Amino acid sequence: MPSGQWVKPVAKHRKLDNLQVCLTSGTTFRLRNPLSAIELMTPHMLQDMRASCQLAANCLTAVGEMIRPGATTSDIDAFVHEYIVSRDAYPSPLEYKGFPKSVCTSVNDCVCHGIPGDQVLKDGDIVNVDVTTYLPKEHGYHGDTSVTFYVGEPSEEAILVVETARRCLELGIAEVKHGKRIGDIGGAIQEYAEAKGCSVVRDYVGHGVGREFHMPPQIPHFGQRGKDKRLKAGMVFTIEPMINIGGYQTEVMDDEWTVLTMDRSLSAQFEHTVLVTRDGVEVLTARKNVVLNSEDKPWVDVGPLSSPAAWNAKQEKTG
Ligand code: MF3
Ligand code: CO
Ligand code: CO
Repeated sequence: MPSGQWVKPVAKHRKLDNLQVCLTSGTTFRLRNPLSAIELMTPHMLQDMRASCQLAANCLTAVGEMIRPGATTSDIDAFVHEYIVSRDAYPSPLEYKGFPKSVCTSVNDCVCHGIPGDQVLKDGDIVNVDVTTYLPKEHGYHGDTSVTFYVGEPSEEAILVVETARRCLELGIAEVKHGKRIGDIGGAIQEYAEAKGCSVVRDYVGHGVGREFHMPPQIPHFGQRGKDKRLKAGMVFTIEPMINIGGYQTEVMDDEWTVLTMDRSLSAQFEHTVLVTRDGVEVLTARKNVVLNSEDKPWVDVGPLSSPAAWNAKQEKTG
């Protein structure tokens, strides 16, 4: 690399996020472009972030108890809204870019961003409930997490897509560690999903989260190991693979929110907010207890990750 001068980014058409400066000594350091800088959380920030993420996790656990045939997606919205506001927090989706409700409820072929309404859940449906909390209400942090639930008795197809999505999230989390790359996450997820005959949605990705609901970096759930930026201790982002039983293409409805699979095949999703650490990962939205109406079992073969065992270990460390 030439010394004593500005070095242009390799691909000019890419976002200028990591302008490198080279000193005569040959050492390089990076100038942050504030528009795309990835924030690293300090221990102080993490205290509040953990609290918001645990509120979101507890809310989702409570939602699991109310999933049953006959409930409407509005019932879920009302419950989540009350749960969050009564604990001095704000439901991040409400009025976010015009979103009209407090939670996303995505049923069957709905990939994400389903708007709660009159839809009655029926036996055999699957429904993803995506909870995001903002705590404290002023100058707070967003905690973002979702689960796909079974309504009544699931079909074989439903089990395939839901359990594949659940495992994809765990396999993605297992890749997270200081020094690894963003591509390691998507690579691991795509390999597994496709081996199961499912596909990975490309139009929506995981995201940095914290002070803002959606911030850099983007975390694709597809791609190649060894590619893309390195993970650094202190980064906080979501992993939220959307897995389809058919093709990966999606279509947005006229309400400008509801995303369906193009071929109307079933879609499932799970989401956690995670912190990159020196020795791996802390799942900030890990749940203390398993959720009902979803096969929320410990993942002994992948590692503790987001299981209740991980929750206990985390408590011991972080209090
Ligand atoms: N919680 C979603 C996510 O995981 C975003 C929902 S945006 C909303 O990123 F406006 F639809 F709520
Ligand atoms: Co998210
Ligand atoms: Co979410």
